[in-house]
Amino acid sequence: MNDTFTLRILRGTPDAQYWEEFELKRERGLNIVSALMAIQKEPVNKEGHKTTPVAWEAGCLEEVCGSCSMLINGRPRQACTALIENLIAEESSAIITVTPFSKFPLIKDLVVDRTALFEALKRVKAWISTDGTWDTKESGAKIAPEVQESLYVLSTCMTCGCCSEGCPQVNDHSIFMGPAPISQIRLFNAHPTGAFQKSERLREALGEEGIAGCGNAQNCAKVCPKKIPLTESLALIGREATKQAIRDFLSLPDAPR
Ligand code: SF4
Ligand code: SF4
Ligand code: FES
Repeated sequence: MNDTFTLRILRGTPDAQYWEEFELKRERGLNIVSALMAIQKEPVNKEGHKTTPVAWEAGCLEEVCGSCSMLINGRPRQACTALIENLIAEESSAIITVTPFSKFPLIKDLVVDRTALFEALKRVKAWISTDGTWDTKESGAKIAPEVQESLYVLSTCMTCGCCSEGCPQVNDHSIFMGPAPISQIRLFNAHPTGAFQKSERLREALGEEGIAGCGNAQNCAKVCPKKIPLTESLALIGREATKQAIRDFLSLPDAPR
């Protein structure tokens, strides 16, 4: 077994991207983030030339924050949990290719701007509003354990953007917000307090920016690292948003909570 591997990285800024290769030692437990840290410590490329450290983002280092997401051997995933040995075994190759996400504006090297995703979360009010009337010393509204269980997986979304990266409908010509914010509508509408804003959220899911932008290709659910049932969320919110549109058209009261 060769005791080194090559990390082939697409670097640069939007106007000037280029490939740079680094040769690194294979070590037990090494992942892409630790490989990038090793380059940061000693930024010398495969040709032996001193170079600039690679720019990338990371936070939690345990697949919770989503900030280290990138394309690794073409697959959207988190660098902090992508083990070098597994990647070599998966591809039967000691050359690992790392590129920034292509569906978000590039800032530099592996860093992209995921503002669009966060702005979509704001539009769909991906939070529970409290109006100050709750007595915080008392427990809030009860949620049945089986409902809690079904909602838990939705709450694990880390806004990593892998689903948008894998979705053919998210591209330069579309205004589709992507599946993650739509799945968050499902989560917050199912909460007894969140349901007070159910209709507002469903209205945001209407149109090309929302559910109409989805082409039902189902790639999103396949690439989600948290195995969130995105296609189920899209179908459910699609039905509820349509009912909301009918209620609005007929000037009926908002959706029941
Ligand atoms: S179902 Fe397909 S088109 Fe719809 S959000 Fe998922 S990947 Fe995109
Ligand atoms: S739904 Fe999955 S893939 Fe999409 S942002 Fe959330 S965790 Fe990432
Ligand atoms: S550093 Fe947070 S998911 Fe990788």
